Amino acid sequence: MKTTRKILSALIAAVMLASCMGVGSSAAVLPDGSMNAEEWNTYFSALDNTMISLTPGSDETQLNVCWHTSASAAPSQFKIGKGISMSDAITYDAYATQAEDEAQRVNRVIAAGLEANTEYYYAYTRNDGSWSAPALYRTLSADTFKVLFVTDIQISPDRGSGEMRNDSYCFNNVLSTALKSNDDISFILNAGDSTESGNNPVEWIGTLAPPALRNLPMASAIGNHDKKGLSYKYYTFSPNNYDEALFPSEIGADNWFRYGEVLFLVYDSTCGSVEDHNNFTEDAIKANKDAKWRVAMMHHDLNGSNDSANSAESRILFRNIYGPLFEKYDIDLALTGHSHTYGRSHQMGYAGVLQNVDGIKSVTNPEGTVYVSGSTACYKYDAMEYDKPAWIAYRFEEPVNTYTTLEFSHDSLALRTCRCDTEELVDEYTINKTDTYEEEIDPAGMFDLYAIVRILGLIFGMIASLGSKFN
Ligand SMILES: [Fe+2]
Ligand SMILES: [Fe+2]
Repeated sequence: MKTTRKILSALIAAVMLASCMGVGSSAAVLPDGSMNAEEWNTYFSALDNTMISLTPGSDETQLNVCWHTSASAAPSQFKIGKGISMSDAITYDAYATQAEDEAQRVNRVIAAGLEANTEYYYAYTRNDGSWSAPALYRTLSADTFKVLFVTDIQISPDRGSGEMRNDSYCFNNVLSTALKSNDDISFILNAGDSTESGNNPVEWIGTLAPPALRNLPMASAIGNHDKKGLSYKYYTFSPNNYDEALFPSEIGADNWFRYGEVLFLVYDSTCGSVEDHNNFTEDAIKANKDAKWRVAMMHHDLNGSNDSANSAESRILFRNIYGPLFEKYDIDLALTGHSHTYGRSHQMGYAGVLQNVDGIKSVTNPEGTVYVSGSTACYKYDAMEYDKPAWIAYRFEEPVNTYTTLEFSHDSLALRTCRCDTEELVDEYTINKTDTYEEEIDPAGMFDLYAIVRILGLIFGMIASLGSKFN
């Protein structure tokens, strides 16, 4: 048994070292973490829930991290510095709170002052007080940058057949496939349902298992499956949480972060308080008036490609909560999940299609918002139950994983979606922008209606806060 443990420890150390060795002459090569099934099973069986979780910080100069340790461990620290020697490292004392289990605590650190185009290495103290092996955190320029969009990782707990290990292996294959062709990804956007049952912490071992997540931050929205429990809040550390909610959720909050000229708005769509989503959006926009791009991410598939064609919650509830907000504030792109099927909409307004983009791959200064619903990053494909909705410009109909990259520059946002098995490009769409946001003007008549929706939202929030949840 001891020998087996030593072998597993050596393998994990080798993976960590591989993370550290990826240093090129000008920019570090990001390890993609690819493994065959046998290597994965050995690697995975040695993991526990003390892996560090990286989340984008408030802007590109910050990095948020959190990790579990034993509650009885010495106070935890995190350090980050340039180069693998970390000789100039800044050391941070972690802010600790009790974990989901009394035997553990969650340690959180915000690393600040990070420069662009720099190879940093970080380490953190573990249960026995020793430092972890240095791991690479490579910053690129935020002027032009690329992110990876995934959703519905939805790791299941084991039910006797290695479900968690297999779900996680699928997620690792999605990440490693994307990274092999896109070494220039700066961070990952995840539209939620990171776990299946939401209340089983071991699921997060599967969600956080891919080695690439030791090097790349991942911003995760809250999904309806996550909302079945509270595990999410112990394994993520989002910046700028909206803390003035009239009806706060126990699991998390709307939050935003800024990267270069892009404002990312991350919504908790499991919370139906329209008033809170409205106020959060207004505050975030006011704090980022100079942003050139506005990107929303939420779990539920408003204007998605499958379920939302027939789902009352999408057609009525989410459309009335987010449709007016996204139109009022000129959201360029809304990233969603939930239906486990990939689709991209026409340019949408609150009331419907504003600009039909059938067969069009590039638009300039378009009206409205493009909605992208991602497929699943594990094996849980949903069948196409409905005809392609009228608002969908493209949908991918095969039970095959896909990944989507988004490349931002000052005047363009380029979306590319590839299938993971062949890496064939299946969808591409570019928005060119030469204008800037105008002073927000309420579209005539719409906000009289929205005022009523907000009042209804207040009532709904009161009901929800009394204990009911909605999925
Ligand atoms: Fe899901
Ligand atoms: Fe979902």
